[in-house]
Amino acid sequence: MITSARSDVHATITGLGAYAPERVITNEELSQLVETSDEWIIERTGIRERRIAADEQALSDICLPAARTALSQAGLDGKDLDLIVVATVTPDMMFPSTSALLADRLGAADAAAYDLSAGCTGFMYAVAQAYGMVAAGLVQRVLVVGGDVLSRILDWSDRSTVVLFGDGAGAVVLEPSAEPGFLAFELGADGGGGEHLWLPGSGSRLFAEPDRFVKMNGREVFKFATRVLVDSARAVLDQQGMRVEDVDVYVPHQANVRIIDHATKKLGIPSDRVVINVDRYGNTSSGSIPLALADAQVDGRLRAGRLVLMTGMGAGLTWGSALMRWTIGGAA
Ligand code: UT7
Repeated sequence: MITSARSDVHATITGLGAYAPERVITNEELSQLVETSDEWIIERTGIRERRIAADEQALSDICLPAARTALSQAGLDGKDLDLIVVATVTPDMMFPSTSALLADRLGAADAAAYDLSAGCTGFMYAVAQAYGMVAAGLVQRVLVVGGDVLSRILDWSDRSTVVLFGDGAGAVVLEPSAEPGFLAFELGADGGGGEHLWLPGSGSRLFAEPDRFVKMNGREVFKFATRVLVDSARAVLDQQGMRVEDVDVYVPHQANVRIIDHATKKLGIPSDRVVINVDRYGNTSSGSIPLALADAQVDGRLRAGRLVLMTGMGAGLTWGSALMRWTIGGAA
């Protein structure tokens, strides 16, 4: 599915925040748990460490600080929100939704709230939906949160997955704006590839141990990822008649440095325009893109007027890109 943003109604990000749990797990620590090594993990993934939620932290606990930072940057309170969408595959529980729990903690008494599941692409899907709701005039102020506590659904004896993933969350506020904002989206899904990254024992088909842990065919996901990062970026740029050279800040899903390098080279994006923090956080699923955006804001790369390209991909299999002019802060 390809979605062009409306040219007559604009919406943008007015606030951004992120949070990662304090506990750091290094490659060295993982090599005490499974048969792996710091060298292997760095060479094959580029990951050096990741954050893991404390026992008492559930998803809503790590979304809350990210949401508060995003609201404060937008100059809003929870009570100002019309809608909260949390993209995740690890909600606190199946119901109530984590969004509803978050709304309560933020004092967002007037907000509709629901969770959205699109694997690691969840944040991109949620941003596109929020844009659509704002552009349709249904809501004015939306909080979109992407976050996951994947550490809870990993098999800690499976070296093919534990080395990759970490916990974290990020949040943005979307509001109508005089200027764009969001320019274009491109979203897609291929359920035929679903079995390459799945949590089989987690729902109405089967709810059982030990199938309640993530299972992944790393090579297949790798092939899919390198293909869609390139195709989706080109599709969203084509919609606007823009070229790769126009992109100032490229924020790919933080899955693996090799995947990002492959896409960056194929697209021809200079490495100084690419945001990478997978070395410090691992793959945080729905948290990945907003955590990377927040890093780029802190290091000064996200400035008003800059063209930002984000592409997510993950379980489903799903993918999604957004192209936008950043509108917060001083001009570039
Ligand atoms: O949001 C999307 C989430 N998922 C992904 O992004 C995953 C995409 N895939 C990948 O990132 C890579 O496929 C991996 C990092 C998972 C694996 O890297 P690879 O270069 O594709 O390795 P491989 O699966 O081809 O395995 C190579 C070898 C195997 O041993 P043999 O069969 O050659 O003897 C594996 O058993 O490496 C072995 N291996 C490990 N060795 C040490 C697999 N995991 C590990 C490990 N430490 N953690």
